[in-house]
Amino acid sequence: MTQTNSPTHSPTNTIDPCTLVLFGASGNLARVKLIPGLFRLDSIGRLPAELKILSVGRQLVDLDAWRADIKTMLDAKFKKGYDAAAFERFIARNFYHANPPTDADAFTKLKNTLSDETIFPQNFAYFLSVRPVDFAPVVESLANVGLTQEEQYWRRVVIEKPFGTDLASAKELQGAITKHLKESQIYRIDHYLGKSALQNILLQRFTNTILEPIWNNQYIDHVQITNTETLGVGERTTFYDTTGALRDMIQSHILQTLALTAMELPKDLSPDGVRAAKIKVLEQIRPIPVNELSKHAFRAQYAAGDIKNADGTTETVPGYLEEIARDNNGEKVASVVETYAAMKLFIDNPRWQGVPFYIRTAKRLHEADTRIAIRFKKAPLQVNNQDQNWLIIGIQPRECIKMEIQSKIPGLDIKTRTIQLDAANRLPEDDTVDAYEALLLNLMQGDNSNYLHINEALAQWRLVDPVVKAWAADKNPVYQYPAGSSDPKASKVIFESEDQFWRYSIELGGDKH
Ligand code: BG6
Repeated sequence: MTQTNSPTHSPTNTIDPCTLVLFGASGNLARVKLIPGLFRLDSIGRLPAELKILSVGRQLVDLDAWRADIKTMLDAKFKKGYDAAAFERFIARNFYHANPPTDADAFTKLKNTLSDETIFPQNFAYFLSVRPVDFAPVVESLANVGLTQEEQYWRRVVIEKPFGTDLASAKELQGAITKHLKESQIYRIDHYLGKSALQNILLQRFTNTILEPIWNNQYIDHVQITNTETLGVGERTTFYDTTGALRDMIQSHILQTLALTAMELPKDLSPDGVRAAKIKVLEQIRPIPVNELSKHAFRAQYAAGDIKNADGTTETVPGYLEEIARDNNGEKVASVVETYAAMKLFIDNPRWQGVPFYIRTAKRLHEADTRIAIRFKKAPLQVNNQDQNWLIIGIQPRECIKMEIQSKIPGLDIKTRTIQLDAANRLPEDDTVDAYEALLLNLMQGDNSNYLHINEALAQWRLVDPVVKAWAADKNPVYQYPAGSSDPKASKVIFESEDQFWRYSIELGGDKH
């Protein structure tokens, strides 16, 4: 495919003086990611001098106690210690405001607190780390006291995942918040977009000449996008049993990974340019035919089994249904919620016509790995019915790019073997930036390219919704796979052709079962 335009990158590194208002400040996300992330950004000099952080919580906590609590968050996160001067600077930026749900005037009081310009810069970014049912009411309450109006200053609102629980509720949420906010004020999170490895997909594809010419249906047999975890659902049984793998991972992180893998060259690297290209490809994905669902989607649940821990030890873990029963006073629940989900998708555009995209996610599989694996078509010369080429982009834990090619086995015979060109996308000395740190910085910079546009969220729901509904309605027992095993054999039903199979690892030989 020929390139007709050549986007340039214009970074938006400036940050206006602003106040970050963290709703749900005593919740897990704020304690483990947001506050430590802001501290790290401060330590490396990326926060503007005037920035203030106003944490908002339900409890009445005085400022000294809140600042002492922040210290416990940082102590827990940075076990090796941290710089005392950086800590002093950071702690002085932090304030607390109690917003008890019983107080009808809570938001007027919040407005009064924020109106003190001697403390709080008047550009406000609200981070809603609250229950999804509270997203719309919080926006409405902010709007009712005039805190969403942009006149002299900007107002931005971050909405955590999930943006709705299906297409209808996503539209409803959108309707409710756009009564008060413009699209440019809304920052919808998918934390995978804050990962450097995901941002690299677009760059690696388009800043190299050699990849683009083969990135299409002329050369590619199929694409596999995989996210597997060895972890189970843990304590989150209530959340998970109303969510499932399709909504939890595929509707969001995996479809975003697919969009970056399949999108066309954006007209530029501006937020609008990147998001327009992603929206376009997401909207070109063919709806899944629900009348033939079993050929296009497969679900399963983990049963008890043995999991290998990172330190090499093995642990016997309970199955999903046992965990659900454990948290349901020991009573069995006939849940059909999937912990493994695989789907076959087609993209109706000239680049991808006829190329299946197999996407899958699972909890409690044999390894934790996120990758894009691309299998190329058969080579013109067949010597020993050799393997087809693979190109693999490792997202996590290894950030790498690998290419498997054929090479002659030295010696007297004409035979080839597969060798792997293997390069690290991350070097040991590179910065490790948490996805939330990157996203917080983008928020303050007013750069929403790594946040979802509403049309991305809606396209993603439109695609998975019919499958979620069909699966929920089908009460037949769900296929079980032992924890620690690789893909259930039965999942093969979604492959288009006999010679397609799951690649189960990024290592050489990872295509052999
Ligand atoms: C979350 C899901 O969005 O992403 C979790 O709710 C999942 O179920 C997590 O474990 C995975 O994120 P990461 O960054 O650890 O790959």
